Amino acid sequence: MKIIKQILCYSLLLSTQLVHGQENQEMNAFIDGLLKKMTVEEKIGQLNLVTAGEAVTGSVVSTDVESKIKAGNIGGIFSMTSPVKIRKAQEIAISQSRLKIPIIFGMDVIHGYKTIFPIPLGLASTWDMGLIRKTARVAAIEATADGLNWTFSPMVDISRDPRWGRISEGSGEDTYLSSRIAKEMVLGYQADDLSKNNTLMACVKHFALYGAAEAGRDYHTTDMSLHRMYNEYLPPYKAAIDAGAMSIMTSFNDINGVPASSNHWLLTDLLRKDWKFNGLVVTDYTAVNELIDHGLGDLQKVSELSLKAGVDMDMVGEGFLTTLKKSLDEGKVTEAEITRACRYVLEAKYRLGLFEDPFRYCDEQRAKTEILTEEHLKLAREAAGKSFVLLKNDKNTLPLKKQGTVAVIGPLANTGSNMPGTWSVSADLVKTPSLVEGMKAALGKEVNIVSHLGSNLTDDPILQERSTMFGRTIPRDERPSDTIIEEALNISRDADVIVAALGESSEMSGESSSRTDLNIPQSQRRLLEALLKTGKPIVLVLFTGRPLTLTWENEHVPAILNVWFGGTETGKAVADVLFGTINPSGKLPATFPQNVGQIPLYYSHKNTGRPLAKDAWFQKFRSNYLDVSNEPLFPFGFGLSYTTFKYGPIEMPKTNMSKTENLKISVRIENIGQYDGEEVVQLYIQDLVGSQTRPVKELKGFQKIFIKKGESKEVDFMISEEDLKFYNQDLKFISEPGKFKVFVGTNSRDTEEAEFELLD
Ligand code: NOJ
Repeated sequence: MKIIKQILCYSLLLSTQLVHGQENQEMNAFIDGLLKKMTVEEKIGQLNLVTAGEAVTGSVVSTDVESKIKAGNIGGIFSMTSPVKIRKAQEIAISQSRLKIPIIFGMDVIHGYKTIFPIPLGLASTWDMGLIRKTARVAAIEATADGLNWTFSPMVDISRDPRWGRISEGSGEDTYLSSRIAKEMVLGYQADDLSKNNTLMACVKHFALYGAAEAGRDYHTTDMSLHRMYNEYLPPYKAAIDAGAMSIMTSFNDINGVPASSNHWLLTDLLRKDWKFNGLVVTDYTAVNELIDHGLGDLQKVSELSLKAGVDMDMVGEGFLTTLKKSLDEGKVTEAEITRACRYVLEAKYRLGLFEDPFRYCDEQRAKTEILTEEHLKLAREAAGKSFVLLKNDKNTLPLKKQGTVAVIGPLANTGSNMPGTWSVSADLVKTPSLVEGMKAALGKEVNIVSHLGSNLTDDPILQERSTMFGRTIPRDERPSDTIIEEALNISRDADVIVAALGESSEMSGESSSRTDLNIPQSQRRLLEALLKTGKPIVLVLFTGRPLTLTWENEHVPAILNVWFGGTETGKAVADVLFGTINPSGKLPATFPQNVGQIPLYYSHKNTGRPLAKDAWFQKFRSNYLDVSNEPLFPFGFGLSYTTFKYGPIEMPKTNMSKTENLKISVRIENIGQYDGEEVVQLYIQDLVGSQTRPVKELKGFQKIFIKKGESKEVDFMISEEDLKFYNQDLKFISEPGKFKVFVGTNSRDTEEAEFELLD
């Protein structure tokens, strides 16, 4: 039986390969034929990606788009939406340009299209791979229903620096978790066939190491050892490519002295030769032009460098369009290099089915029926609820009883435009319910909700004004802050419980939104202090796009629910969790430090030659600080539940394994609390002895399980040699026999542990 199955599987694999091979042959023949007909200018035209500017996501906007389409000077357009507009632009290309080559239409569809899901850092907090894939699938359905066929997502940059505003757009600090998520996002967008009218081409970004910007300052230099790069920062990009992502975006930063967008080693040696990537390489917004400021030469020179490094498509800057012909005439680039880039653009269009039917994504009926559906909103509410992380819950402050009056106070209480979060550029902000509206809709008349804006976001009008990239303002109240606080207290007077909706506005994180102070702004701290003096139970509902420093809040506030930016259904989902319809299960994908001085702080650090003794706070001549312990405030993987999960000891039938065996690790987990709940069981490994230093812990597996109260479940993990491998100093991916520690627990700090050996 097994043999028959194997034969069947093998012949299925063979026939799929044959089909793909045949498709490739057909594609190659078609594109060869087309390339023969193209002039050099037309080939260069295909390398030009312009913005229609519906969402302004960079500092310059493209001009004369229509005449450029007619002249064959555009390969792709982004930030244009609706089947009507896209059909119109496509018609111009199809009927008025000489070769009638269709245009590709892109957009930043990052965490949902119209139905907005939690920001990526929030989605990562769900640790729910099936759910994450579904959110990407829904985003693809909605975006393609509105005419699009390309998204600039997933963003898979590892970041260990919450000062960097774009930490909100990725999956946090961990290589393994980010790689798993990268794969799910690609599969959600592209599904099994890119040419279907409801699948979207994914674009992995920002290649590479954009999240390791020095000092957390956006667009800043990255300088990193190859060893760290290969082991910690590159795997998520590779995972997305292995999952089939058909495009990749180069990053703004330089890497060890060479900007990514002109980095031949990165884009050709690593990406094309080692990783065998056969999709489209596009730059980030004006990244070619920015090579001038990086100090590499004038526009002609940098365009030449970028093309030769391996870039195929130039976003917005038009350096390729305006200089490559001249460089060709002067012998600085070859026609073969231009043709190579053009071929990748044409292949993307072919795979999307645009040559077969350039209007396959322009179905007005779909735009009416497949966007913001009830089913999509239901998923958004589920995803939001699962993304929230319960950081503190003293004396079971939560869940609240569904009765009485709740006062919802603070600058994030009544602002609908902030709920979707950064990079939800296609969200309809006017129609997005605020936290208070969402809570009221979820609770009906069961609970009386009173609310107040309560305070200014910050004392600093300039910071407030700067934090409005996509027009998501939080209006300022110019009255004295004591008057505003007094008003908030009056509203809270008759309430049974106070929900303080505080934190960051959605544009205090995201692109070009780095910060050096990660405390809740002073004006909000003062409000919180005043609210605490009432003696009423207080829940801090914390909005943020990054780990904040919450030492003071953690000392004083009984309950803290971190809700990131939860998307369209934030308000309802907050009500679900506060009132216990949903038991929180989110876990942090990034460490929350005690203070900014500890950054970068991450769980998978090295041991050093002078580690601190276990449980010690400070020891002279050891690796630590005088003024703060090495511990985070909340570790990676942390998140509470309304129930309590008790972990049994690690069970292993064997304590050694050969390189061809799998080692079974089991743990029994018991729900000893009062609620049914979901738990993310996390497995970490430490390589104890080796040829080079290795992290004290590395995530290598996790399972999200549901356990009813009073019940228990055994969770099994299988460790294989693959999990024990790393890139050594020669960049060989190897395992080294010897002792390992394995940890299983509810977060990266609180774990059961055991040892095993990998045999030679
Ligand atoms: C700049 C951002 O860095 C990138 O993530 C985005 O996709 C492009 N702009 C296009 O909007």
